Amino acid sequence: MDKRRASPPASPARPRAVLFDAYGTLFDVHSVALLAEQFYPGQGQALSVVWRDKQIEYTRLVTTSDQGAHYQPFWDLTRAALRYATARLHLELTPPREQQLMNQYRALSAYPESREVLKRLQELGVVTGILSNGDPDMLGVAVRSAGLDSWLDQVISVDPVRLFKTHPACYALGPERTGVPAAETVFVSSNGWDALGATWFGYTTLWVNRHGLPAEQIGPPPTRTGTSLRDVLSFFAAA
Ligand code: LAC
Repeated sequence: MDKRRASPPASPARPRAVLFDAYGTLFDVHSVALLAEQFYPGQGQALSVVWRDKQIEYTRLVTTSDQGAHYQPFWDLTRAALRYATARLHLELTPPREQQLMNQYRALSAYPESREVLKRLQELGVVTGILSNGDPDMLGVAVRSAGLDSWLDQVISVDPVRLFKTHPACYALGPERTGVPAAETVFVSSNGWDALGATWFGYTTLWVNRHGLPAEQIGPPPTRTGTSLRDVLSFFAAA
């Protein structure tokens, strides 16, 4: 039996909302790897990969253990993951270095195409927003420092449900806040696993595969795959 038949329709007539993942999707985390490289020459890339993997592992650990009883905000898990990653790679994390790496994570730049894409979506009358694991404080700082506040109708954090994506309660916050059903909302993520979780939930999805990574080997494919945020505009191209 073809399980893909159970996936949502290939593309709704015209979506009414677009929700973006934050870290790595709207916000470019590359500057963190550059700073890590300055501190630990030759190890910056490795550190940022282990840091990111551990950060996501911690979100899953607290979400799947005891129904979220061990929840900690994303900021705290990010700091814990940094401490783990440096220890794992035998790198010395002095308090000033920790502070600087965390500050860098707090005030990331947006990908260069972000503003023009959000502006175009707003001109098209589409509801725009973020749906992120980030806690409200860190998302607020990131949105303001990247200058995206005027172009986002909603900044939705998973924090109120005290669980992380890919728990369905997190994806449910999108339609709850925008009033637009998941199938009529494009969820955009650079993380293959996040695009898959959103597809399972029932969103129309765009996986922005910036780094030419292989597709997830389980589940239905995303509705569409692209290489930049601009590809979301393909859902709104004139028929
Ligand atoms: C987020 C992480 C998963 O913003 O990138 O939710």
